[in-house]
Amino acid sequence: MRKITIFGGSGFVGRYLVQKFAEEEDLIRIAVRNPIAANFLKPLGEVGQISLLQASVLKAESITKVIEGADVVINLVGILYEKGPQTFEAIHVEGARLVAKISAELGIPTLLHMSALGANENSRSHYASTKARGEEAVLKEFPSATIFRPSVIFGPEDAFLNRFAEMALISPFLPLIGGGKTKFQPIYVENVAEAFLKASFMKEAQGKTYELGGPKIYTFKELMNYLLKTIHRKRLLLPVPFGLAKLMSTLTQFFPTPPLTPDQVELLKTDTIVSSQALTAEDLAIFPSSLEALAPLYLNRYVPHGSHRD
Ligand SMILES: NC(=O)c1ccc[n+]([C@@H]2O[C@H](COP(=O)([O-])OP(=O)(O)OC[C@H]3O[C@@H](n4cnc5c(N)ncnc54)[C@H](OP(=O)(O)O)[C@@H]3O)[C@@H](O)[C@H]2O)c1
Repeated sequence: MRKITIFGGSGFVGRYLVQKFAEEEDLIRIAVRNPIAANFLKPLGEVGQISLLQASVLKAESITKVIEGADVVINLVGILYEKGPQTFEAIHVEGARLVAKISAELGIPTLLHMSALGANENSRSHYASTKARGEEAVLKEFPSATIFRPSVIFGPEDAFLNRFAEMALISPFLPLIGGGKTKFQPIYVENVAEAFLKASFMKEAQGKTYELGGPKIYTFKELMNYLLKTIHRKRLLLPVPFGLAKLMSTLTQFFPTPPLTPDQVELLKTDTIVSSQALTAEDLAIFPSSLEALAPLYLNRYVPHGSHRD
């Protein structure tokens, strides 16, 4: 029975990883800032299989406590906007470095680290540049770490299709930032979880970076058209130039949960698709599921009158 520590286990992707590793009968420690709020994860395993421990990737002593004795450490922690001490630099670079450094010092055999497609040191998006510097810091401290770079991830709790579907419930239009030309390769959340699980058993995955994308590439506009068709709603798709989106985002960034920040506008300028020379999900013997097969199952709740009219 392996011991797995997961940072970020309470997030959207995290809960699927917890479930996948629980099916392997691994003992799982989930490192969360607020264990009580993460109690919903316990039923994903057998009694006593999942424990919730208080930790932050910003606090070295808390990291040491939750990874001591682990066979596999997984760091999923990431943020889309900054708040207080939760800055891109602190979470994506320094937090990632600390987890990797302490894992190496404690002789943890396997470290799996979550990054993102589009990670690029030279990006004008701080999300993307800090994700790249985080990868570098992790590999410097723990050269055999496995890095994952997914495109946008879809699934029942995603913050992408759900967010625009919610917007379509109340707005007569959906914005096409930058004209909606940016390309995405959405991957299903369970396929991402499978990638982590498979890599956790594979010596040959150590020190490698995997780019994770689904079977099809879409422009943002194609995704919005697909979404509207799926939820049976007609809305205007309104092109919003990047400059105007940036201006609007200087205001929306101050919302308690910002719908758009200037950094996200920068991020939207770059395609997030798997590059031709990259190792991919297929190299882990995973054949990603299609958006069309799965998204309607959870987008159903946005269809007028609550059910599909086929
Ligand atoms: N979702 C996507 O489409 C997508 C695409 C590409 C890459 N990614 C990457 O995948 C990872 C997971 O994404 P997600 O969508 O699951 O995000 P999420 O739902 O926002 O989850 C983030 C997790 O990080 C934890 N966290 C935040 N600050 C922390 C801290 N200081 N110490 C410890 N834990 C902390 C959160 O826990 P608490 O707040 O409860 O403490 C939560 O469990 C991120 O690194 C993200 O950049 C996601």
